[in-house]
Amino acid sequence: MGGEVKEVKDLASREDKFEKIIKLSKRRGFFWYSYEIYGGVGGFITLGPLGVLLKNNIVEKWRKVFILPHQDFIIEIESPIIAPEKVFLASGHLKHFTDYIVECLSCRRKFRADHLIEEKTGEAGLEKLSELQLTELIRKYDVKCPECGGELDEVRKFNLLFKTNIGPYSENVGFARPETAQGMFVNFNRIYQIMRRKLPLGIAQIGKVMRNEISPRQGPIRLREFTIMELELFYDPKKPSCDLVQQVKDETINVLTEEDVAKGVEIPRSVTIEEALKKKYILNEWNAYFMALAKIFLQELGVREEKQMFVAKLPEERAHYAAQTYDQVVYVERWGWIEVSGHAYRTDYDLRRHTEYSGKDLRAQRRLPKPVYLEKVEVRPLAKEILREYGKEVLKELMKLIARREENLVKQLKEKGYVAVGLNEEHIKVEKRFFEIVEKREEVEYEKFFPHVAEPSFGAERLFYVTLEYAYSEKKGRIVLRLPRELAPIKVGVLPIVSAPELISKATNIYLKLKDLGVTVVMDSEGSIGKRYAQLDEIGVPFAITIDRQTLSDDTVTVRDRDTWKQVRIPIKNLSLLIKKALEEPKKSLFELAEELKVSPR
Ligand code: GLY
Repeated sequence: MGGEVKEVKDLASREDKFEKIIKLSKRRGFFWYSYEIYGGVGGFITLGPLGVLLKNNIVEKWRKVFILPHQDFIIEIESPIIAPEKVFLASGHLKHFTDYIVECLSCRRKFRADHLIEEKTGEAGLEKLSELQLTELIRKYDVKCPECGGELDEVRKFNLLFKTNIGPYSENVGFARPETAQGMFVNFNRIYQIMRRKLPLGIAQIGKVMRNEISPRQGPIRLREFTIMELELFYDPKKPSCDLVQQVKDETINVLTEEDVAKGVEIPRSVTIEEALKKKYILNEWNAYFMALAKIFLQELGVREEKQMFVAKLPEERAHYAAQTYDQVVYVERWGWIEVSGHAYRTDYDLRRHTEYSGKDLRAQRRLPKPVYLEKVEVRPLAKEILREYGKEVLKELMKLIARREENLVKQLKEKGYVAVGLNEEHIKVEKRFFEIVEKREEVEYEKFFPHVAEPSFGAERLFYVTLEYAYSEKKGRIVLRLPRELAPIKVGVLPIVSAPELISKATNIYLKLKDLGVTVVMDSEGSIGKRYAQLDEIGVPFAITIDRQTLSDDTVTVRDRDTWKQVRIPIKNLSLLIKKALEEPKKSLFELAEELKVSPR
């Protein structure tokens, strides 16, 4: 077989995995850099046919881990990508969603200032410094333009939001969302009501977001447009416990706590979720629960536990909304540890801010242990008398005052004996005798409060790249993409051993049957069988079914396992069941499953 295979040329070269994956991805259609025919635009990738299938499978897997098991209280929504300015004024992104930028005075290229300094000096954690301090470091270490060696200008802040106009009005400014989270916050009231006013409530969203990165140079790792899979879990801060933690309390995770990071510790500690909570490494149970799921999720994408960890962000590195954040990072060959998900404790920051900016009350309510009675004072203006004494304009202004701040009016009436109404820069005093003051006792069963939020947030394209890197392997000079079965874009290849009509006809029947089963399947009858196996291996097809001469006499076929290259011969009638089981039970080998189906390996 080896002799028939055209060897992939650069396998023995010094290219790193990233380079190899880029080449494979372009050649076979996982992804490539966008706008190639116009010279390319940094920070955008296009997914090809296999890429779309792989990404969809990763997204589906995320749903299976984070939403489906909790579907009674975690639901998914889809909100717009574009939001009006007010949303990001309230969320704080207009002020805080910035990076440091520096421009070359010769070639006018622009760079991330902290990255340039880090590259030159190895100093990390520069986010906490000011523009002035970064400029001083540039001068001190004589950092120059990496493109032309020119002098660099002073460092300034650059907002990463993509700006646009909504409709033909230049004053109607809109921004592309940099996270889907705001869509969950601004819709909280409606969803809370749809979900019968119960907490905990999880709102998830999967969708494109945009970040106008200054100079993205890490291929699919730092994109200007990418897909986020995000979940906002709203809970009552008086009932912060998460019962589901019990199910994952013994899961271990590798952790660098805030203290470790501050001390420069680089080797993580392995702790159980229970321990992490007890020792207060993780502040709230919901974040801890999702971190356990995140670890398992990454394992199922092919990343072993020792290749992933959770790193706490220092207060100065955290997003403006977070009281605690852990980045889940995964080791990749070219860049070392890269973030694949963020686990933020957003407290009640966002709901409070949107309440303040929109004027709409985004609080939830909880039933009080027993009803309380509130003394309420109501001010009722005697409209007819006021009209007669003060006129229409005063009455109108007074009604506005009443609608806005009744408590103040009661105070004014009690203390001063009148209410001051502003009219044409005059203050008219409407006397107490023009009001009826009614004291009421009201029974209150509920109290209002702002829920707190735990947020796990994943970047789909980074997971996509990580999945490819962890699946990438070479065997006897050939690429074998050992994608988990569940994620493989194409599950089965159907290969007549030669292109004789009677074999093609048998193969076509098998192909159609598997397609009807809902399995992604390709049929290929061209070229040597070895070359066809190799082509399936490099795109990660877990199973290849071969139809040969023996098939014509006994209606059996061979099924080849991508990872071991071993084959099992089974009757065609058992084929669909074998493939179905192999996809449903990914931990079992093809041969174990074949045994279970009472067919013997060849
Ligand atoms: N919502 C998480 C993030 O913006 O990174």
